[in-house]
Amino acid sequence: MMLYIGVDLGTSAVKLLLMDGSGKIENIVSREYSLSFPHPGWSEQSPQDWYTNAIEGIKELTASCEKSQVAGISFGGQMHGLVALDEKDEVIRPAILWNDGRTGKETDYLNNVIGKEKLSEYTANIAFAGFTAPKILWMKENEPENFARIQKIMLPKDYLAYKLSGTFCSDYSDASGMLLMDVKNKCWSKEMMDICGVRQEQLPKLFESYEVVGTLKADVAAELGLSEQVKVIAGAGDNAAAAVGTGTVGDGMCNISLGTSGTIFISSKEFGVDSNNALHSFAHADGAYHLMGCMLSAASCNKWWMDEIIKTKDYPGEQAGITKLGENNVYYLPYLMGERSPHNDPDARAAFIGMTMDTTREDMTQAVLEGVAFGLRDSLEVARSLGIKIERTKICGGGAKSPLWKKIIANVMNLKVDVIESEEGPGYGGAILAAVGCGEYTSVEEAAGKLVKVVDTVEPDAELVAKYEERYQKFKKIYPTVKGLFQELK
Ligand code: XUL
Repeated sequence: MMLYIGVDLGTSAVKLLLMDGSGKIENIVSREYSLSFPHPGWSEQSPQDWYTNAIEGIKELTASCEKSQVAGISFGGQMHGLVALDEKDEVIRPAILWNDGRTGKETDYLNNVIGKEKLSEYTANIAFAGFTAPKILWMKENEPENFARIQKIMLPKDYLAYKLSGTFCSDYSDASGMLLMDVKNKCWSKEMMDICGVRQEQLPKLFESYEVVGTLKADVAAELGLSEQVKVIAGAGDNAAAAVGTGTVGDGMCNISLGTSGTIFISSKEFGVDSNNALHSFAHADGAYHLMGCMLSAASCNKWWMDEIIKTKDYPGEQAGITKLGENNVYYLPYLMGERSPHNDPDARAAFIGMTMDTTREDMTQAVLEGVAFGLRDSLEVARSLGIKIERTKICGGGAKSPLWKKIIANVMNLKVDVIESEEGPGYGGAILAAVGCGEYTSVEEAAGKLVKVVDTVEPDAELVAKYEERYQKFKKIYPTVKGLFQELK
């Protein structure tokens, strides 16, 4: 049976997954790398680190499989990151990531001087600090020598595809998040290129996520011990890939991802935009479209709280003592890296509020999990205000390993939460895209329909939903009350 590799190029690690043509996961390998925060709110990573770890990871992943059976490789990649190469294909500076908040000034310029209406007309979106276009403007203003050297601009996973295949490419789902693409018409926007001072030759050729962009370069194939016939398939932004991996394709399906970021993803057959552009309107990896809300810190809030503050690795142990669901008086604002959806405020910061002398460690941990759920609910409310009716969602990402967190999400959001066999959304989605690209399935929808299996459903409980509704109404008041203060704390 043929084998397919899905690469989930994440923020804390690259995760590689080997799937056979029937959808069975044969192996999973993960390799962590570092993230640097050169200034508060900035976030950078080395593209060379991604590549080295992906190559070593592929070797480990395929060490004991029948290598001649490997037919294709594809990706789900962290979105929006700016990777810039010079004329020798050298990386010019560390990649500026999706959760980097340095572009407040550029974002304001785009939204207020160019204007949100124009941006929405050109791209179907407005500017958010993490998007790629404001980063290009930042580089132009702050690092003119670097800017002048740019020959190629690409997204994180596209750097891997380029190094593996030699094809300078991206896909519609990921390119949607650059604020340089006309999402409705799936082409680069001439107006946005002019605004950012870039030429089309500097931008990658665009593909559907399931299209073949090339095959492994001879030297790469030799290093990996794989055939030069292995196809490289464009892949998708990690959220679109995760949606494929959880079967969130077709119309009106929902997926929540609890990774470093937290996202709520709604698939749609038709292109659509909300009037305030509060949700992102992007292309989907199945050839259609989606709406998405993105929180910058989700499972990363819990990781920070566990690893850095209370200093434990025993996540289930910490959660075991939590019993007061829906009754916590402590609230947590999850804005460790500022916030994207729906506040669009790079200066927002995290906060605990409501503690008293009898507050316990469990209350604080619970508040962190609940704060993320409330933040996701903020985006769900925008979708509901558009008349989108969602009753159930899939869930994936590291946070989805926690039964307690899934229960909190189900009740805070009043959604049935469908649990998939594996929470490896983007890696599994990447492998499915590779299988479709290699002709194993005729469409992404067909493949996801056949391969993705729901194994459990967490049902919301009416009494708990009512308690959380009350808490959410209080949570909603906290950010607007302290928003001004964040400006002063800068
Ligand atoms: C989505 C976003 C994040 C990253 C995480 O818009 O910025 O979900 O893709 O990798």
